[in-house]
Amino acid sequence: MSQTITSLLNKTKIDPSWSFSDKTRKDTAYITHGYHRYPAKFIPQIVSRLAEKYTRIGDFIVDPFGGCGTTLVESKVMGRPSVGVDINPVAVLITKAKITPIDPKKIEKAFN
Ligand SMILES: C[S@@+](CC[C@H](N)C(=O)[O-])C[C@H]1O[C@@H](n2cnc3c(N)ncnc32)[C@H](O)[C@@H]1O
Repeated sequence: MSQTITSLLNKTKIDPSWSFSDKTRKDTAYITHGYHRYPAKFIPQIVSRLAEKYTRIGDFIVDPFGGCGTTLVESKVMGRPSVGVDINPVAVLITKAKITPIDPKKIEKAFN
């Protein structure tokens, strides 16, 4: 079995354009992505590239292990309705904070 996996991996052509190794924290923390750290988080560029490649505007995206909502933020920006699920209530709280639009007037009022 492990030999089969090894030979499969050896035959697999690696596309270096999926590495995103040039991305800095600043590159990956745009919009609300930088609100809070979360373990094993996707970088948003992976999500947007996958959504661009495999979905169209209006397609429904589901992330059953949603973590801190990277998929949901990118889906919203890209015009794809989405739903995420996570067993961790902290992940759900962070996600809600990241995807809930706030009226700029409310922010200005609170700031003042
Ligand atoms: C690697 S993280 C996902 C990170 C996410 N892709 C992001 O970019 O923020 C995996 C998530 O799966 C969640 N998880 C693990 N087991 C689960 C289960 N049985 N049901 C729902 N969520 C689960 C964990 O709480 C964790 O937040």
